[in-house]
Amino acid sequence: MTDFRFNFSGAESEVEHKDDEEISWLASEEVKPDKQIKEVDEINLLYLALLPCHETVIRHIMPTKIIAELKNKELQNVLNTAEKEHSDLVTGKYEGGLKIWECTYDLLQYLMHNKDIIEFQDKNVLDLGCGAGILGIYALQNGANVTFQDYNKEVLENVTIPNVLVNIEEKFREKEIKRCKFYSGDWTHFNNFLPNNEQFDIILSSETIYNESNYVKIITLFKNRLNNNGSVFLAAKSVYFGVGGGTKQFENTLEKYGSLKSNVCWKTETPILRQILKITK
Ligand SMILES: C[S@@+](CC[C@H](N)C(=O)[O-])C[C@H]1O[C@@H](n2cnc3c(N)ncnc32)[C@H](O)[C@@H]1O
Repeated sequence: MTDFRFNFSGAESEVEHKDDEEISWLASEEVKPDKQIKEVDEINLLYLALLPCHETVIRHIMPTKIIAELKNKELQNVLNTAEKEHSDLVTGKYEGGLKIWECTYDLLQYLMHNKDIIEFQDKNVLDLGCGAGILGIYALQNGANVTFQDYNKEVLENVTIPNVLVNIEEKFREKEIKRCKFYSGDWTHFNNFLPNNEQFDIILSSETIYNESNYVKIITLFKNRLNNNGSVFLAAKSVYFGVGGGTKQFENTLEKYGSLKSNVCWKTETPILRQILKITK
């Protein structure tokens, strides 16, 4: 696979790339939100941004504030390396979850516009590669039980869990947070780590298919973890410059590994196409 730098603008550039065999992908673990529950009331309200969402809003901590305040030295080091390389992620170390990527907004809009068809009440939902967790929070606000997965534990601890909590009224906190689970680590490890019978009615995922070498992991996870009647909504760009990944490549791999169907349910008309794939069994 080629070296790459992943970015919003689509302008091509490079980052140090490690071959897959050099990467020791992180194991999966469940992250409990106890510490964050205790500390949520200390979050500076001026750090919160509001994302309009039909009759309600989703609140989230501004990524710049998190990065500036991040106490975890290890992740801070990775971020510094990424910054030096003008890169948004470092393969196998930090996979980009500290900021909100643009396809998240596409999928959020899509879910809101199709509110009558895509129902979340009492559904089991997975926000795969959740980062800030916006999509999962939307599902939670609409009555789902939500599993949030991100590669980096530090992202879950410093961003995802606080974001979930600032969207729950204090009096409902203890009850509502029980409808959420949080897992870190690589997709293969995560898939093996989940209880055998755990399956999802809806899997939401945004900007997770830039690295082709992860496609089989993601597809295996979909096959194992999606209910027979369930749907995946996957938002991504048609091309990730320099990486080789993109929606077409992902659909080709899906076809090669059989048994899952995919269709484009939404797309932009911009030169760098952004799409939403609906994937079913
Ligand atoms: C570019 S970020 C997108 C974050 C978020 N979905 C968004 O749209 O704002 C890619 C996400 O994919 C996840 N990811 C990437 N590679 C992964 C891997 N090998 N195993 C598990 N998660 C991975 C990371 O958690 C990361 O947050």
